[in-house]
Amino acid sequence: MDHFLYRNGELYAEDVPVSEIAKSVGTPCYIYSAATLTRHFKLFDEALEGTDHLVCFAMKSNSNQAVLKLLAGLGAGMDVVSGGEYARARAAGVSGDKIVFSGVGKTREEMSAALTGGIRQFNVESEPEMLALNEVALSLGTVAPIAIRINPDVDAKTHEKIATGKSENKFGIPISRAREVYALAASLKGLKIMGIDVHIGSQLVELEPFELAYQKVRELTEVLRADDHEITRLDLGGGLGIPYERSNEAPPLPIEYGELIKRTLGDLGCEIEIEPGRLISGNAGIMVSSVIYVKSGEDRDFLIIDGAMNDLVRPSMYSAHHDIIPLKEPAAGAEQQPYDIVGPVCESGDTFAKGRNMPVLEAGDVVAFRSAGAYGAVMASEYNSRPLIPEVLVSGDQFAVIRSRPTFQEMIARDTVPEWL
Ligand code: LLP
Repeated sequence: MDHFLYRNGELYAEDVPVSEIAKSVGTPCYIYSAATLTRHFKLFDEALEGTDHLVCFAMKSNSNQAVLKLLAGLGAGMDVVSGGEYARARAAGVSGDKIVFSGVGKTREEMSAALTGGIRQFNVESEPEMLALNEVALSLGTVAPIAIRINPDVDAKTHEKIATGKSENKFGIPISRAREVYALAASLKGLKIMGIDVHIGSQLVELEPFELAYQKVRELTEVLRADDHEITRLDLGGGLGIPYERSNEAPPLPIEYGELIKRTLGDLGCEIEIEPGRLISGNAGIMVSSVIYVKSGEDRDFLIIDGAMNDLVRPSMYSAHHDIIPLKEPAAGAEQQPYDIVGPVCESGDTFAKGRNMPVLEAGDVVAFRSAGAYGAVMASEYNSRPLIPEVLVSGDQFAVIRSRPTFQEMIARDTVPEWL
């Protein structure tokens, strides 16, 4: 459930008509609902009630300062994957002891910044990374808390570009080598083993792959404890999927996911961390865009809108489906027609949907892309010199611009032309 609903024939974001925001900030723009973000965070938090746990928001899905601040205020930790994300989390007021640092390619500079600024744990993904972290920690006269990300070789049954738990993926250490890698970690004075980390992929719409992976984590916990390692924390990653196509998708709920975690791992006496991103922010956001032209092609009609692949890349990058709805609620039984919905960018890949049945629309009409709060704004670029689009946060009957639209001048001013040209 989210808070983008029709009321009196028009789409509202909580208690604000979306058309009012579109008029005020212009299109295209992103709009997030504070109540939905809050609700989704609490669903996870409550699903793990009764266990010692921390929900670390995967801020790669949405890293706006206002969003982070809101979630941090609810008690969220953060899962970061770069020095930039670490800096954003700290700037939003998240304390270091609530930040986990994931990612296969952490640099020494990033390690050093996190060790200096405070960190809950590094999720280490390889031996060379482990050796580097040990050196950085020793040079700073400190000890780095770590979990080691194991690759359980489980098929997450999701899009190949966002599956991470198979042996052919670049992530983690093969579970078959875990004992020797933990032994190496234990021998390094700059590291302190806290636990085990696993993340098998994103947009998972079944619980079974999680169950297989978590069973392996359970067995490994027992094996490592028998080897005399202290395993006090299990980081179970993110990945729970959302219904992108509302008419025919119903992925498992956080409460079911929480029950699975408690059932498979609850008696190990470990603190549980999870790193959900998409399920918290995805359906808490929409992208709003205006129809510029309706163009009649030879065998189809194109809706040419002012949003493009640079603003929301998921459809062109992963052939992802986003529900697209008009701001004006279509009357029951209103005429529909298929459109190819495309942006103005100069390549055919700038297509959001093909043959999508929509009510009849005309230039000037405004539409909303649902489920755009995760991996939307954060993946945007300025391709075709289209400035990044604004982000707006709604809470009840108020809204605020939480990232403004740069002017062309601001965009251009980031370039410098050398004197000798
Ligand atoms: N933890 C780790 C280590 C991750 O790599 C990810 C996502 C997450 C947590 C959060 O997963 P989530 O709960 O959001 O599924 N750009 C793609 C998604 C890439 C996900 C990458 N890793 C998309 O738009 O579908």
